[in-house]
Amino acid sequence: MKTTKKTAQTMLSEAELNYQKAPGHWILARMGKRVLRPGGLELTQQMLSNVNIQAIDEVVEFAPGLGITAKLTLSRQPVSYTAIERDEAAAQQVRQYLIGPHRKCLVGKAEDTGLPGTIATVVYGEAMLTMQTPGNKAKIVNEAARLLKPGGRYGIHELCLQPDDMSDAQKEEIYQALAQAIRVGARPLTVSEWRTLLETEGFAVEGVATAPMHLLEPKRFIQDEGWSRTLRFLLNVARTPAARQRILAMRAVFQKYEDFLGAVTMVGVKEG
Ligand SMILES: C[S@@+](CC[C@H](N)C(=O)[O-])C[C@H]1O[C@@H](n2cnc3c(N)ncnc32)[C@H](O)[C@@H]1O
Repeated sequence: MKTTKKTAQTMLSEAELNYQKAPGHWILARMGKRVLRPGGLELTQQMLSNVNIQAIDEVVEFAPGLGITAKLTLSRQPVSYTAIERDEAAAQQVRQYLIGPHRKCLVGKAEDTGLPGTIATVVYGEAMLTMQTPGNKAKIVNEAARLLKPGGRYGIHELCLQPDDMSDAQKEEIYQALAQAIRVGARPLTVSEWRTLLETEGFAVEGVATAPMHLLEPKRFIQDEGWSRTLRFLLNVARTPAARQRILAMRAVFQKYEDFLGAVTMVGVKEG
């Protein structure tokens, strides 16, 4: 099957997935993995506790994917929850968790949500800025700032490069290896570059925490997915050689660059 723009946007709903070309996260999702962010549920919990969602909050989530963090947010019963997801099938999945008024998941782009300004007290997004071009990263952070009320919090959870003084040549090597393995133009930043990105758009940064990039390591996998989902994932992978090949290639790159890849969360507070 040829990957067209349309199929790239609806990976979850395609009966046939092009295992050679599909973005790595949709291959993992098709095999049954639900947690698709680099620092796992532990860093997600850290981010949620730092943005401190409470019953008085109006929340916007960028790129909810399969809705795992959406469920955690909804359990805190915010006044409103609005998600903006580019993939139609993923958005449809998130909608299954949205019960009651002031809860919606729109198909759209985080860089241009079409939502009115200053409607949110909390905006967050995970594993979605890394895959954007530098220009789009800035646009998305700017959109978060536009949506937030003064004093509002913007949480991110992304892949990072370490150490901070990594050379441009090393960065380029890792970008190439990631693009080849996950078939997405992933351009992670160093922790200080992520900080600068948020500060440039007017945020005061706090709540910085990091974790190893162990997305495909057994201990993290079981922590994030539980035993039974992990076993089902392994069975699915065993039955699907083309997916197995891609997943092993991704894991090999993550392991090769283990010392240089990490996960980071931070919170930007919109100055009021
Ligand atoms: C790696 S997955 C992460 C999903 C989820 N946030 C998680 O951590 O499990 C990336 C998600 O970002 C979405 N996405 C990528 N770029 C986007 C954009 N510009 N606007 C909205 N969604 C986007 C993709 O459709 C996909 O659901």
